Amino acid sequence: MVKLNGKNVYLATLERKDCKKLWDDFEYDFEAMTEPLNIGHSIEKADKWFDEIQDVQMNKHIRLGVFLSDGTVIGDVALQDIDWRNRSCTIGLGISKIKDRCKGYGTEAVKLILEYGFNNIGLERISANTLEQNKATQRVLKKLGFTLEGTERKAVYFAGKKWDRLNYAILREEFKIR
Ligand SMILES: CC(C)(COP(=O)(O)OP(=O)(O)OC[C@H]1O[C@@H](n2cnc3c(N)ncnc32)[C@H](O)[C@@H]1OP(=O)(O)O)[C@@H](O)C(=O)NCCC(=O)NCCS
Repeated sequence: MVKLNGKNVYLATLERKDCKKLWDDFEYDFEAMTEPLNIGHSIEKADKWFDEIQDVQMNKHIRLGVFLSDGTVIGDVALQDIDWRNRSCTIGLGISKIKDRCKGYGTEAVKLILEYGFNNIGLERISANTLEQNKATQRVLKKLGFTLEGTERKAVYFAGKKWDRLNYAILREEFKIR
């Protein structure tokens, strides 16, 4: 059981009911389509997602819920595809409801999981990929000191267009000095 306390949010291990709530709550922002729509949200899929998390938790991935101080789960954040030999991984983040976005919760969640990754489990490099139109994710990564390392041009097709995928990363020593 992991629990990481921040100022406005804390991160903790997801329970089955939290996974269901996240899938129930998820709102796709049709005004700002930042990523492909995940079609087929359902309670059954949330159950399967919970089981998949357990299968790889603390080895391939470390996925935690993002909780408000009153215990409401509002999103999830993960260290994904952990490469223990090279001490690296990628990061994943989502805040379910539109009303909870742009309030600083995502930045705080990523900061907490970076601290955990670098200081508790010995990671040395954490990367993050996002699409060119996802300005919120880019802002979160820049605020935390990630460097844009590359652009995969026209890498992802959705909404009738090809979009660039941006590759960001932060090294342990860069995070330490912040
Ligand atoms: C991306 C996401 C995880 C970020 O979490 P969040 O809690 O909204 O992030 P924060 O509030 O900490 O920071 C967002 C920043 O982006 C800025 N931002 C948001 N939309 C923006 C836009 N269109 N242009 C420029 N900046 C924008 C916000 O103003 C804020 O910056 P600030 O703190 O300097 O004001 C969340 O918005 C989300 O879940 N979006 C939908 C799913 C998604 O895109 N997931 C990521 C896939 S890679």
